[in-house]
Amino acid sequence: MKIVLLGAPGSGKGTQAAFIKQKYNLPHISTGDIFRDNIKNNTPLGAQVKSIMDTGMLCPDDLTIEMVKDRLRKPDCHNGYLLDGFPRNLFQAESLNRFDAPDIVINIEIDLNKIRRRITGRRSCPKCGGSFHIDFIGDVKECPNCKGQLIIRKDDNPETVKERLAVYERQTKPLIDFYESKGKLVNIDGDKQIDEVFAEIVKVLEK
Ligand code: AP5
Repeated sequence: MKIVLLGAPGSGKGTQAAFIKQKYNLPHISTGDIFRDNIKNNTPLGAQVKSIMDTGMLCPDDLTIEMVKDRLRKPDCHNGYLLDGFPRNLFQAESLNRFDAPDIVINIEIDLNKIRRRITGRRSCPKCGGSFHIDFIGDVKECPNCKGQLIIRKDDNPETVKERLAVYERQTKPLIDFYESKGKLVNIDGDKQIDEVFAEIVKVLEK
C-alpha cells in the first residue's frame, strides 16, 4: 500500500503516521524528519537546508525529490510506503506520480485556528521521532516512549508557524484538488481525539 499523508502543519500527520506504521508495517518517510536528522548530524545536506527550515519556507524541490527517490529505492519500500510531508507542492506531486504514484492520499483536515495551539504545545523526541502535546503529557522533559530528551522544534515559534501556514495555503493546499481529480483523495476529520482520527483512517484503509 502506498500512502501519502496530506495536511497543514500541526494537523497530526506525524502522530497518525506512528500508528499507521505500526499497524500496517509500512516505512514511515517524513521529509521533515530526514532534513532534521541531517541538520543534527551536521551533514552537507543539513547545512544547505537549516536556514530555510528555520524560516518556514520549503527546501529546494530538486534536492527533496532526489532524497525521496533514494529513500523509496530501499528494500523496505518494496511493499509500499507512508509518505509524510511529501509531496508539498504541485511540482513534487507530479514528480512522485511519475516515479512511484500513491494508491491513496489521506488529507487530515483541521481548522487552521486550532493549529497554533497544537504546534506551540508540541514536544518532539529527536530519538524516537515521537510527537506529543503538553495537554496530554504535561510539561515533562522525558519522552514517554523512549525516555529521550524532549525538545521544542526550532520552527515551532509563532513567527515561523505563521510562515509555514502561509506556505501551506499557497503551495500545498492545491494538492487537495490535484489528488481529488485523480480519484485518490480521502478527507479525514483531524479535529477529533487522536484515537478517533486513527479509527477513521483504518476504516478508509480497510475498505
Ligand atoms: P515537517 O516536519 O513536515 O512539518 P509540518 O508539515 O509543518 O508538519 P508538522 O510536523 O509540524 O505537523 P504534523 O502534521 O506532523 O503534526 P503532529 O502529528 O506533530 O516540515 C518541516 C519543514 O521541513 C518544512 O517547513 C520545510 O522547510 C521542510 N520540508 C519538509 N518536507 C518538505 C518537502 N516535501 N519539500 C520542501 N521542504 C520540506 O501534531 C502536532 C501537535 O498536535 C502535536 O503536539 C500532537 O501531539 C498534537 N495532536 C496531533 N493530533 C491531535 C489530535 N487529534 N488532537 C489533539 N492534539 C493532536
